[in-house]
Amino acid sequence: MSPRSGTRPVDTATIACDPARVELEAENSLHARCRLLVSTPAAWVAAAIPSLSTLLVEQAHLEKKAAAAAMRFLFSHGTEPWIQRALSCIAREELVHFERTLRLLDQRGASFTTLPPSRYADRLKAAIAPTMPERAVDELLVASLIEARSHERMEALGLALSGVDDAASAFYLDLVEAEARHRCLYLDIAASLVDANEVERRFLRLAQVEREAILQRDEVMRLHSGHGSHDNA
Ligand SMILES: [Fe+2]
Ligand SMILES: [Fe+2]
Repeated sequence: MSPRSGTRPVDTATIACDPARVELEAENSLHARCRLLVSTPAAWVAAAIPSLSTLLVEQAHLEKKAAAAAMRFLFSHGTEPWIQRALSCIAREELVHFERTLRLLDQRGASFTTLPPSRYADRLKAAIAPTMPERAVDELLVASLIEARSHERMEALGLALSGVDDAASAFYLDLVEAEARHRCLYLDIAASLVDANEVERRFLRLAQVEREAILQRDEVMRLHSGHGSHDNA
């Protein structure tokens, strides 16, 4: 029998989550060479703070999407054990983040509602090669870029919220280390498909698209929205 609408048959706050942490072998030169091309403008951080309640709702959507992306890669990237293990761990770790975000929303009396996304992800997806095998590499590199921007902006929000909203600050700062690891793991998986020079060449092209997306205006304030966003919708 399915639970009635509005009832809460399971208290997710009491479920023990496996931390599902995936370790990096080590930082390598590819990780160092494949970085974001532009830092977030200070104006974005200032504009983001008044939209914190919207950003926290969006965070739940982002974590769920990140888990779904890792699951899609899990099915599309063969049987190599370290890749399968890494993707499985990323998916689980993102779901733990999702549950943590839902808990935070609950603690703040906020609802997990639908939100229209910014155009950032669509701009990046439009730059992905249309045909295989290049498409497979680009999809991993876009995932790496999104993780990198998530890491950068969540860290900026966590630091800016310190002393303003300590619970939200601690939440963001607690998650950033995982997003940094995910950035590197997606680069490593891309480097299992083509050589490092090709990874770097394709990354640079996509990173330039990402840079443009960050510097363009978005109508909505989101974690990955462009500069000059003022609307809370
Ligand atoms: Fe996450
Ligand atoms: Fe992540």
